[in-house]
Amino acid sequence: MSGQPTPAHRAVLLEEAVEALAVRPDGIYLDGTFGRGGHSGRILERLGPEGRLIALDRDPEAEAEAARRYGHDERFHFERCSFEMLQQVADRLGISGRLDGVLLDLGVSSPQLDTPERGFSFMSDGPLDMRMDPESGESAAAWLARADEDEIAWVLKEYGEERFARRIARRIVETRQETPLERTRQLAELINEAVPFKERHKHPATRSFQAIRIRVNDELETLRRCLAQIPALLAPGGRLAVISFHSLEDRMVKRFLREQAEGERLPRGLPVQGDARRGQTLRLVGRAIRASRAELDENPRARSAVLRVAERLA
Ligand SMILES: C[S@@+](CC[C@H](N)C(=O)[O-])C[C@H]1O[C@@H](n2cnc3c(N)ncnc32)[C@H](O)[C@@H]1O
Repeated sequence: MSGQPTPAHRAVLLEEAVEALAVRPDGIYLDGTFGRGGHSGRILERLGPEGRLIALDRDPEAEAEAARRYGHDERFHFERCSFEMLQQVADRLGISGRLDGVLLDLGVSSPQLDTPERGFSFMSDGPLDMRMDPESGESAAAWLARADEDEIAWVLKEYGEERFARRIARRIVETRQETPLERTRQLAELINEAVPFKERHKHPATRSFQAIRIRVNDELETLRRCLAQIPALLAPGGRLAVISFHSLEDRMVKRFLREQAEGERLPRGLPVQGDARRGQTLRLVGRAIRASRAELDENPRARSAVLRVAERLA
């Protein structure tokens, strides 16, 4: 890192998400995406001396911030790991089935995006890294150096909804035969040249950078595995609140919540009374919530955020 202080993160849908968790002073809560602790801080403010907050994040800088801000608070416990380890963490801490709330504020934080050395942004030049945990897994540069054209095109199309996925993938493969792709600017310029039509108000690399980031961090599969663990970890009445930032995530969250709320319809003719379903674990709480005009004026990054909330059935 450069030694410069990292940019701040402004928590999105802060009041709405913490309100949705209906924090009880003596409850046990889990923030799966600590970031810079905006939501965690607000949860801790609402907890009494008996309450507990467990926070996770993959990012070493989030870990350092957690130690700095709340390391002295006995109600707080941080683990650096992916939120797909949720169940293991909960089992080890003896809180499986006892969680009163789980919050996931998905995606990347502003410090990750705005620190050029992390390689997430095409707005400034940095190494093509994009790992939320830069100490494990494959960087964007390493993946772009080895993936074949079909795989790159698939990722750009599926995860970035990029209409020129094939052209960009072909250009990447051609270019890397001459020079390795190692810098964010280099990739952004290559995409700019490969794309024949530009969208208004959107850099042509926006979709591809999102797609590569999702691939490098395996974001969708990680989310899928995490969501599946949550109903069993919540106490009856416990809440799940998820903030998504793009339609792929939001679709997955919405579908998961709907499936858990509707359960599986039993075959007709079984001798059951009432609604013939099984496997219902959650009840949907309200509708999807988006940022208010006031929040959008202050923080344009909130514009794509969607909060969905559900509650564990008894
Ligand atoms: C939008 S930020 C969260 C901001 C936080 N709510 C706050 O108020 O400061 C997302 C954070 O989630 C982390 N993250 C993303 N995917 C993760 C995963 N699978 N496991 C753990 N942390 C993850 C990122 O490293 C990032 O710090």
